[in-house]
Parts: sequence; C-alpha cells; structure tokens
Amino acid sequence: MLQIQENVSLKNFNTFGVEANAKYFVEINRREELAELFLDPQWLQTKTLVLGGGSNLLLLNDFDGLVIRINIRGIEHRISHNDVFIEAGAGEVWNDLVNFCVVRGYAGLENLSLIPGSVGAAPIQNIGAYGVELQDVFRSCCTFELATGTFKTFTKEDCHFGYRESIFKSDLKGQYIIVSVKLQLSLIPHFNLKYGAIEQELANRNVTTPTLKDISQVVSHIRVSKLPDPSTIGNAGSFFKNPVISNEEFTLVQSKFPEIVHYPAGDGLVKLAAGWLIEQCGWKGKVYGHTGTWKNQALVLVNHGGATGQEVYAFSSEIIDSVYAKFGVSLQREVNIIS
Ligand code: EPU
Repeated sequence: MLQIQENVSLKNFNTFGVEANAKYFVEINRREELAELFLDPQWLQTKTLVLGGGSNLLLLNDFDGLVIRINIRGIEHRISHNDVFIEAGAGEVWNDLVNFCVVRGYAGLENLSLIPGSVGAAPIQNIGAYGVELQDVFRSCCTFELATGTFKTFTKEDCHFGYRESIFKSDLKGQYIIVSVKLQLSLIPHFNLKYGAIEQELANRNVTTPTLKDISQVVSHIRVSKLPDPSTIGNAGSFFKNPVISNEEFTLVQSKFPEIVHYPAGDGLVKLAAGWLIEQCGWKGKVYGHTGTWKNQALVLVNHGGATGQEVYAFSSEIIDSVYAKFGVSLQREVNIIS
C-alpha cells in the first residue's frame, strides 16, 4: 500500500541542502507502484516533482504539490560476445552503477565516476564528464507516461540527446517518469583519455597501461580535488552550462579577450568555459550571504549553510548579468529551478 506523507522536509532530498517542504510526498520502490499511484485521479491534477538523487535542482519555495521519490532498484547484466548489456533501476545511485561495472571489467562508464545523482536522472540531462557523455553508452530507457498510465520505451534516437539536453528536459518535460535505463558497455575498453587532466594524473601515478580501475580512480581524484562534496557542502555541480556561440560571435569576443578558453563545438559553433568567464568577472571563491562560488571551480555555486533557494537564485542572476556585461555572452542555468 502506497504511503502518501504530508508536509515533508526536502532538505535531505536536495544536494544543495536548502530548506523547503513538500505538501505531499511518496516513495516509489517498484515500477507498478506508479501505475497504482495514478489510478487516483487526484494526482493527475496535482503538480508533481520527480526526485532521484536531488543533485541537479534548486528549490525556490515550498513545493505545493506531490513529490515522487523514485527508489526503484536493481541492476541486471548480460554478456554477449564482447558486449555487456546493463539494465538498471532509476533509483540506483549512479556511482554505484559505475562501480558495479568497473569492478567487473565492463568498460564505458569509468569517465563518469563519482557524478552525483541517480540512474534515472542521467538521461534527462545526458550527464557527461571528461570527454564522455551518457549518450555514448545509452540504448534505451523505460518510462511511465503520466497522461496514459502506461509504460513506454524511448530509444536513444527518441531521446534527442544534446549537450546536457534531452527531450525529457525540453518538449516532454514533466510528462514521463524514467523507471529504468539500458546501457551497452564492452569487455574491450576504449579509453577516452583526451581530457588533459586525466593524462597528467596517470603520468603522476606512473601508469602507462591503465585499467578501468585506474581511470575511475583518476577521474574520482580529479573530481574530488575540483568539486565540493555535496555531503559536506551543499551544491548541485555545475550551476550553468558552458555557453555555445557562433563562430562570428566568438571572433568578436576573442578580439577583446584573446586568452578566452574555448573548444570547437562543430557546425560553426564554439563552446566557452563558463567557469573561466565567471572567474574573470571576479566571482571565483566569492562568498555572497550564505551562498557563493566554489574556491576551485567558479561554475559551482555552493550553500555555505542556511542559504535559501531564493538567495542562490538571486546570486546566480548577478553572475549572469555580470558575465553578460563583460563578455556579451548569456549564461544558461544547467540546474533545474523548481518554483
Ligand atoms: N576554468 C577557470 N576557472 C574556473 C573553472 C574553470 O578558468 O573557476 C577553466 C579551466 O581552467 C578549464 C576550463 O575552464 O580551462 C574548463 O574547466 P573544467 O575542466 O573544470 O570543466 P568545466 O567545463 O568547467 C565541465 C562540466 C563538468 C565536468 C567537467 C569535466 C559542464 C556544465 N560542466 O565543466 O560537469 O565534470 O567539464 O568534464 O559541462 C556537472 O555537470 O555538474 C559537472 C561538474
């Protein structure tokens, strides 16, 4: 029997650690429970918020609706020749899945070590780090469609993945709940070491022929050295996306700031490093009331204790305004803003 709780604090369910209450709250442990929940038409008319690890959102206010916490567990794996097919429940912790694969020699997720959040949240923003994105290993996901109460599979093509983007964040926002994810990994590693810091850290460790475990450890080490640990200091990883601009816009901004950090993004586009832009505006390591930017990575906003969602949001607006004033570049928030 599903238990709907009332007036539940979400402080421990968002990695920013901001205080906000949910009017209603339910935990889903099996996919069938979603169908059961929505048999009651009341919930179809209620505003809902689906929570996984709560690691990519900022709550601005109390949530005047139903928070659905997905805790569907289970990892299944099947090997065929050199391919490994994985199906993981949306409520699995992402990094537990990475470790599950790394220790068994299943290659493909090692660069995505230590990303906070749940498996079900991974496709929504096509998580990525150190030269690898979820879409590189993704096959499909099973979802629950709220409007019809049925389960529907989305293939990789259906998901319209882009840089920190998918159809679940855009056209179909709020319409589907991811219940499980299928990935295709390999027994033969294809290491992606092009990200300089990985090569450097392998060299520091005198590793010349790395294993999956080496890569996972090195990536974890880099993350820990740059990014704040949400269990000790509230944050939601990169708060903004790295902006992608046209070659023409880039030429203009580069003429004024020749040292600007940039990467080719294909199709006549250039990606800029938001962390660099923010640092150049003098924000790196700044404390702003109870919030601020992280001392080692200006792209990450943190809660120094007692910050409200509104305060973090107001700070992020100041950063957007100052980056625009200096560079003429608009930063977009990557974190989901829940009001
Ligand atoms: N930089 C600065 N100052 C800063 C931060 C960065 O000058 O305060 C410069 C760095 O020196 C470097 C460039 O900006 O030249 C890029 O920095 P970094 O390698 O730290 O990566 P990022 O572009 O800031 C992205 C992802 C991270 C991911 C890393 C590594 C986004 C929005 N963020 O950050 O993802 O871990 O690359 O692949 O794409 C996340 O999404 O939550 C996240 C942490």
